Amino acid sequence: MKFSVPALALAFATVAVAQFDEPSAPFYLVLESDDASVNSKTLTACHEGAAIEGLCLSDALDSYPTGQAPSTFRFNSSSNIDPPAEGLGRPGYLTYLLIGNDFEVSSGLQFFADPSTNVGHPQFYPGPDGAQTLAFDTKNYLTVQTYVDDTVTPPKPGDFKAIERWFACTTYSQSYTNDSLNWVYGKAEPQNPSCKAVRVKRIFTGKRAA
Ligand SMILES: *[C@@H]1O[C@H](CO)[C@@H](O)[C@H](O)[C@H]1NC(C)=O
Ligand SMILES: *[C@@H]1O[C@H](CO)[C@@H](O)[C@H](O)[C@H]1NC(C)=O
Repeated sequence: MKFSVPALALAFATVAVAQFDEPSAPFYLVLESDDASVNSKTLTACHEGAAIEGLCLSDALDSYPTGQAPSTFRFNSSSNIDPPAEGLGRPGYLTYLLIGNDFEVSSGLQFFADPSTNVGHPQFYPGPDGAQTLAFDTKNYLTVQTYVDDTVTPPKPGDFKAIERWFACTTYSQSYTNDSLNWVYGKAEPQNPSCKAVRVKRIFTGKRAA
């Protein structure tokens, strides 16, 4: 069935309020980069405030368990929502289970935007509220899906595509200085000089030799 552009745009807008309540199997997140200092590093949820975690760099999967261990994450999606285009994958939320002394809470990844920088800082907050809609493409790379191209005048809606503007950067957030995963807004270079371009790939925990 073919949808017209307004129907597609409407479907995409609905995604923001859709329930992403079907968790995937658990997986690790692994960085791929031309920069050897971050290539094959993994990501671990790291404390950046009360019940708030950033995504810090941890050691490569093959250094585990002696190196700094990665966290496991899940992707909450919905079988009611189809991928917007071939190869792009279903939208949903990246989630992390925060385990406290006497509680467990599934937390969704949000993008914290500080207007003084083009480097957005993803953090997990308890629950789905405010979570950023993301997707894994069919090759398991983490993306942001968009259907508006604002680099042309007038902006052109209708072509769904997946973009990847992930960077590993040394960031300062709520008194924590960490090497973390970040998102750069727009096509510009990150203003933070420590940032190194990365791709973020999921590797399901069951697929890795123990
Ligand atoms: C993910 O899905 C599970 C199962 O429906 C739900 O309990 C959890 O709250 C969801 N997490 C987020 C962050 O939406
Ligand atoms: C994050 O930064 C804090 C202090 O700035 C440090 O104690 C902690 O070890 C860092 N976490 C990681 C995972 O690098």
